[in-house]
Amino acid sequence: MSKSNFDSKVIKKGFPLLERSVNGSPIVYLDSAATSQKPIEVIERMNDYYKEINANVHRGAYHIAELATAEVEETRQKLHRFINSSSTKEIIFTKNATEAINLVAYSWGRSELNEGDVILLSSLEHHSNIVPWQQLSSERNIEIRWIPITHDGRLDLENIDELLKGVKLLCVTSVSNALGTINPVKELIEAAHKVGALCLVDACQSAPHFETDVTDLDADFIAFSGHKMCGPTGIGVLWGRLEILENMPPFLGGGEMILNVTSDGFTPNELPWKFEAGTPPIAEIIGLGVAISYLEKIGMGAIREHEQKLTSYALQMLNDRFGNDLVIHGPESSLERSGVLSLSYRDVHPHDLSQVLDQHGVCVRAGHHCCKPLMKLMGLPATARASLYIYNDESDIDVLADAINEAGKIFA
Ligand code: ALA
Repeated sequence: MSKSNFDSKVIKKGFPLLERSVNGSPIVYLDSAATSQKPIEVIERMNDYYKEINANVHRGAYHIAELATAEVEETRQKLHRFINSSSTKEIIFTKNATEAINLVAYSWGRSELNEGDVILLSSLEHHSNIVPWQQLSSERNIEIRWIPITHDGRLDLENIDELLKGVKLLCVTSVSNALGTINPVKELIEAAHKVGALCLVDACQSAPHFETDVTDLDADFIAFSGHKMCGPTGIGVLWGRLEILENMPPFLGGGEMILNVTSDGFTPNELPWKFEAGTPPIAEIIGLGVAISYLEKIGMGAIREHEQKLTSYALQMLNDRFGNDLVIHGPESSLERSGVLSLSYRDVHPHDLSQVLDQHGVCVRAGHHCCKPLMKLMGLPATARASLYIYNDESDIDVLADAINEAGKIFA
């Protein structure tokens, strides 16, 4: 698949799970915001690692250990290129994005923030970018402020200068996992830097879907997970600005993160290993490396273009077909949103709706999407969320619409 001839039907053939049926119907997978499916290349490479070069990394001086170590470090190189960082030392492997954010909260937060300091969170954050800061806040008596939202689920930045006064850290998601809103992250980072604050970006819902350029963004930390971008579960990434990471104390203690240990104490390892205690998820890192190459081959620009077109189609078609019976929460224009469609259908409970959709092979997520403060602000107990990726096309949206129609008949 080259960048110029994006074809989701061809792409879909490379994902073995998408060949299966569910409840007698071909699967229509619309839950990629929760986790993406995996291309065959990723699955096979992880199997091959176990079959051919399974050995611990950075330890053995024998052939297969060297091969495994080289593959792990090659993934780091690929990520460095993928997000345009200034050094591979800035790429830290974590278990997932949640652990990456916790790493910043425990290491940077607990060494830099004290009583009376202020953290500014957007109201679109996932619990993973809220709870670590609430834990720190209750330990240190740190103030948490919130950027409000507009009625259509965009950040309300009218009073951003006021909100940023005295702030030490701004935490913002690049794309809302619950509504699909794309946030103006570059402008927010610039505003945060003007008041001397750092900015942490949760890039879980953008790194799989469009280009990530940490140098252009001028961010301080970004976190994302491998499993939402065609890679395996169990592997996430923290990128941090080199000079900040260098001054941060280690997070977890153990093997790999030390240069030396005596009975009196230890000397931390160099970056990035200072933050990588214990045996890393080797097969998962290798799998993520294959996923990155896979996405690069398609091209992140082509991926965004496809998803934006598909989102426009979905917004228009669902509106034409269901009118006021179906509310699609979030911004109206596909220019301001990713391929996340958070739905409320008449008075049908989202869990009931998702169960009927499942009877037609359609997989969506129903609930609060780990964004309870946001759902409360929107006045919603839950939504049914359909989320798109490279292997979806218009026929999937049509099946979704037919299945919603069937739910309408059941809950008439
Ligand atoms: N954060 C993931 C989601 O939005 C799990 O579904």
